[in-house]
Amino acid sequence: MAELGLAVNRRRLLAGGAVAAVAAVAGSAPAAGAGTVTAPPVVADGRAVEPFHGPHQAGVATAPQAHAVFVGLDLRKGIGREEVSRMMRLLTDDARRLTQGRPALADTEPELAALPSRLTVTFGFGPGLFAAAGQAGRRPASVAPLPAFKIDKLEERWSGGDLLVQICADDPLTVAHTLRMVVKDARAFAKVRWTQRGFRRAAHTQPSGLTQRNVMGQLDGTVNPVPGTPEFERAVWIPAEGGRLQGGTTLVLRRIRAEMETWDAADTVAKEFTVGRRLADGAPLTGGREHDAPDYAKLTPAGFPVISEYAHIRRAHVADPNLRMLRRVYNYDEGVAADGRADTGLLFASYQADIARQFVPVQERLAEADLLNEWTTPIGSAVFAIPPGCGPDGWIGEGLLS
Ligand code: HEM
Repeated sequence: MAELGLAVNRRRLLAGGAVAAVAAVAGSAPAAGAGTVTAPPVVADGRAVEPFHGPHQAGVATAPQAHAVFVGLDLRKGIGREEVSRMMRLLTDDARRLTQGRPALADTEPELAALPSRLTVTFGFGPGLFAAAGQAGRRPASVAPLPAFKIDKLEERWSGGDLLVQICADDPLTVAHTLRMVVKDARAFAKVRWTQRGFRRAAHTQPSGLTQRNVMGQLDGTVNPVPGTPEFERAVWIPAEGGRLQGGTTLVLRRIRAEMETWDAADTVAKEFTVGRRLADGAPLTGGREHDAPDYAKLTPAGFPVISEYAHIRRAHVADPNLRMLRRVYNYDEGVAADGRADTGLLFASYQADIARQFVPVQERLAEADLLNEWTTPIGSAVFAIPPGCGPDGWIGEGLLS
């Protein structure tokens, strides 16, 4: 296992051209082949790179980085297929360089590119981009504004958008620099509609692979497709029938406010009853450990379900693992108002092969009756097709736009 991890690490570093830097840190020359390496190189975390090229865009199956910014842009008037293609060539070039620790072309702060910190830049196309590029026929039907849900209190300023740029890295300065470079290069073609910043725990504050807590204190992400499994492939990536989107996915981004004042007033029993899991360890209320299956048939001595009919996990549960969405959730926290109320919640980001089959039915069940609705309010909503990845000579969206 350790050897495998090392091989992967080395491949990533080689892909990023960061070998010299590693050698400098490790105090040794780069080894000729993986087999000759006996000890893991000492790599400063800031130099860690995620591969950019491949059949899928990075930033979906990638283990979530600590910081994220989601940017929604609107195309300027008169922009058509030709201009969108030019923009995507430019932005792909930025992403290709910056993710591998190299400055963007005409980078005004090239020094900031040196520590990519697992940077990923992921692009998404909203309904407006397909229309502007004259490619509405290639837009999956459900890449469209979601049906209205009765729990929604959507604000224009957090909703919609023609183009999404999702920037994630373990370092917030890297995220800020990448954001500036990308927005600068997009400026002639598009203007920023919204910017949403999110965070998870800082890198290395807990062992990787553990479920993280959200701002409401819950372990969030227990039941999720696992990258590398056949279920993940089927649930997340668009299959061959998706034509030019094959290998891509779709993103639903919902900004969901957490009503912390009233949530704080609820006691542990109420909080656990709401979700159907224990706060301490995320185990289902029917017992066992975090990843044990909940027993939805189990009754209390008084004859009531131990996990309420209206508990979040029961309402959200999808039995078929091939139809689950990937939740890659970030927290947001935009400060405290004069009265002490926090402006905080979740940037709920779900990736699925098909929004209509996978996201919408779950959201409908939750909107209809989910105890959690008492403490959460969707205030933003946006939907994008995430095109497949590209090779060294390609650009993101090429198959859709040409
Ligand atoms: C602020 C809003 C939300 C909070 C705080 C929240 C929190 C949680 C928590 C604590 C769990 C249990 C642990 C886990 O499996 O991750 C969970 C599960 C889940 N949530 Fe949410 N959630 C929110 C919104 C949503 C939305 C909008 C959806 C989809 C429309 C959703 C879909 C799911 C699914 C599919 C599961 C797994 C259910 C299962 O099969 O056990 N959640 N959520």
